[in-house]
Amino acid sequence: MTADSPDESTVACGRDAVISKFRKRFNCHPDFVSIAPGRVNLIGGHVDYNAGLVLPVAVDCHTFVAGAKNDEAGVLAIHSIRENESFVIDLACPVVPAQPNWTNYVRGVVHGFLTRGIELPGLKILIDSTIPSGSGLSSSASLEVAVAGILELAGGVVLEGNEKPRLCQLAEHQFANVPCGIMDQFTVTFAQPGCMMLLDCRNESIEHVPFNHDQLAVAVINTHVRHELSEGEYASRRQRCETVSKTLGLESLRDLTWSMLDRVSDQLDELSVSCAEHVLRENERTLAFVQYMKNEEWARAGEMLYQSHTSLSEKFQVSCAELDELVESARKLGRERGVLGARMTGAGFGGSVIVLVEREKASDVVSGIVETYNEIGAALSRPRASGFIAEPTGGAQVIKFDID
Ligand code: GLA
Repeated sequence: MTADSPDESTVACGRDAVISKFRKRFNCHPDFVSIAPGRVNLIGGHVDYNAGLVLPVAVDCHTFVAGAKNDEAGVLAIHSIRENESFVIDLACPVVPAQPNWTNYVRGVVHGFLTRGIELPGLKILIDSTIPSGSGLSSSASLEVAVAGILELAGGVVLEGNEKPRLCQLAEHQFANVPCGIMDQFTVTFAQPGCMMLLDCRNESIEHVPFNHDQLAVAVINTHVRHELSEGEYASRRQRCETVSKTLGLESLRDLTWSMLDRVSDQLDELSVSCAEHVLRENERTLAFVQYMKNEEWARAGEMLYQSHTSLSEKFQVSCAELDELVESARKLGRERGVLGARMTGAGFGGSVIVLVEREKASDVVSGIVETYNEIGAALSRPRASGFIAEPTGGAQVIKFDID
């Protein structure tokens, strides 16, 4: 990323904006700013909690958090611009989940620091974000990691290795009640600019694979739909995968083979079997996609995305009509219009699809897909879709100001 790359100037704008909003609200300059990106997953859907292989990229929309030491010791005073809400955490009392729900991502991270015995000073904290929430772009993991960055600076500690994303994942499990895998928090923390991040969720090893930015682009089309059942269904898919592993005495579905699955399939319900089939093939597809991208075999890479979507829709059953329609619309535009492949990203039941597209045709593809979807949608009174080209960006960063 060069100094004047679009990504760096977007980050600089957001940073300056959060500083000025902080000054306005709290009447002082922040001591620290922490910035964390959103993410999309290119392939490897619903395999992170099965110790599988995922290929996310961090994208250039961000959470910006500014903080300063508070005169009032022992109190964190927090305000979110997006939610237009404030709340307070009293560090002398146990930190527990509470309403409104968005505060739990912050409470959970603070709790993680306190349970590690890290002493935190009183703080004023302001949160701003350019990541659309509920869009499958990981606004929650981004918030967790950005808050963790502020708390590291304020507490004078550095969480080494994988401790920070792990702490953030636990915050989401315990405080937001979402049994997510490790993909989002790892991507937001460790992504490198211009790269896809091949993460092996079994041993937590990472390979940063350059994304061919000159020839290709990742378009994100957001349905702005979030179906009610999403969280319960996420937990139930995870549960089914674990039941299959347990039935076979495996630690995770990463170790599953076709013959093992054959052996136990009559002891399992149909959806559990088809979820396991998805996981088996999806891990193979992630590796194949990486290889095709390295070989510049774009059409073959794109085909992996279509296959992944079909499998998530039919076997894992986490898609919805809106996501299927967008993927179909991308497929119809086809190679001639520069479309290589498309799939849903994130947990599903709404949110966004990603489209792998030739760079020079990318903006036409985004407007083509969005317009068609919105024309059909006009008669259906559903939210209008929107789209943008996501540039693979770097992971979280913090800035400490030396102010006397
Ligand atoms: C959500 C979760 C991730 C992952 C994806 C599905 O984004 O937070 O851990 O399971 O869904 O791939």
